[in-house]
Amino acid sequence: MTVTAVIGSQWGDEGKGKVVDYLAKHVDYVARFNGGNNAGHTVINEFGTFKIHLVPSGIFAKNTVGLIGGGVVIDPQVLIDEIEMLNKAGIGIDGRFWISPRSHLIMPYHKILDGLYEEAKGAGATGTTRRGIGPVFADKVSYNGIRWTDFASDMFEQRLQMQIELKNKIIIALGGESIKYEEIRDTYRGYYLKLKPYIKELFSLVQDGLKTNKNFLLEQAMGTFLDTDWGTYPFVTASTTIPSAASAGLGIPPKYITNVIGVTKAYTTRVGAGPLPTEITDARSAVYEQFGEVAATTGRIRRVGWLDLEIVKTAVLLSGVTELCLTKLDVLSDLEQLQVCVGYKLDGKDVTYTDVDAYGLDKVEIVYKNVPGWKEDISKVKSFNDLPVNAQGYVKMIEEAAGVPVKWIGVGPERDATIRR
Ligand code: GDP
Ligand code: IMO
Ligand code: MG
Repeated sequence: MTVTAVIGSQWGDEGKGKVVDYLAKHVDYVARFNGGNNAGHTVINEFGTFKIHLVPSGIFAKNTVGLIGGGVVIDPQVLIDEIEMLNKAGIGIDGRFWISPRSHLIMPYHKILDGLYEEAKGAGATGTTRRGIGPVFADKVSYNGIRWTDFASDMFEQRLQMQIELKNKIIIALGGESIKYEEIRDTYRGYYLKLKPYIKELFSLVQDGLKTNKNFLLEQAMGTFLDTDWGTYPFVTASTTIPSAASAGLGIPPKYITNVIGVTKAYTTRVGAGPLPTEITDARSAVYEQFGEVAATTGRIRRVGWLDLEIVKTAVLLSGVTELCLTKLDVLSDLEQLQVCVGYKLDGKDVTYTDVDAYGLDKVEIVYKNVPGWKEDISKVKSFNDLPVNAQGYVKMIEEAAGVPVKWIGVGPERDATIRR
């Protein structure tokens, strides 16, 4: 039995979706345990190109069962669209995809409030995806949430009516337009009927799987430094992103987690507000253009920066990473010289990530190491030894700093553009 958590070691978008799709054919279950459809995971394989927000990225492996744990928050319309998209692409999921009835629903008022809070905060805004994530998790922990279980009884109507009364007061106070109970009730009843065939308690399925030595792949959403507790608070997301969240979010006791794969981009990106110590801000620079990316969920332009080893090292320790998957090494090709952050200084003194808060992290001075680049296109390379010597050196430098091996190297967005060491 293996229970492998795949986690991003930076600020999200490290390439988790690609890695999960690559590894899925070796496992029995692939599961999401945190976040919601703020996640955007890109998968490129023999079926096409997909941006997935809720269904686990391993669903393309036809013998694998996909699970959405109770720790995930769900916008039903997004999930329905996604299931339809998969069906159209010939990925049958019936009978091998299950949603925990414990998962909370993103309601229209969560999305409205997400937007209103961001507007009200002005320059202090987090730059959320506006998918209602903060408000739905706030409702979950303040006993105001609505779960799939509520539909099975008349609790749904009671709870919804009460929430709409409450939320309308806040929405109006913040200058928004009130919302109507009946409309939302009917729409969500329709969603429930469509998704009901997939909703089932996961407890015995997960427990039986653990007992019978099945293999699990746990797909984190967001990255380590968007974690509510350990990220750059308040510029974080509203769920725990480190592997311990998989325990609560799926009902897998921590002792069963055997491996943690830290997915690390060969440089750094971030979407939304908050510190990005190695950020390249000169939009005219060639590197800025080369590292440039568009966010999979919101279509925003991702901020970019050099690789930050202090961040990667902290993620490895925090999440108990056992091996790294380095993605996007191909993007670094054709640069004469690369810069890598090997530490921070504040007021002349060495500091670590955990010594400072988000505002302190914005002020740290970066200790850079210059590293020689390589000219060659490496996107077709299949083995580590065939990589240019300087690219090999870059990989070795990362594993030395992190203290764990780099077991996979991404050299392109497609599933097969992966070197296994
Ligand atoms: P996720 O949220 O962690 O799943 O990552 P995203 O899908 O949001 O962003 C990662 C982006 O990098 C996507 O556009 C992927 O297709 C792409 N990608 C992943 N791995 C590689 C790689 O090794 N090389 C290149 N060039 N692109 C990659
Ligand atoms: P994946 O799974 C990158 C960021 C948002 C914002 C902050 C809070 O694709 O790696 P939220 O909507 O969650 O309340 O926004 O978190 N964020 C992500 N950034 N990748 C993600 O997911 C993200 N999910 C949320 O940009 O800064
Ligand atoms: Mg993403």
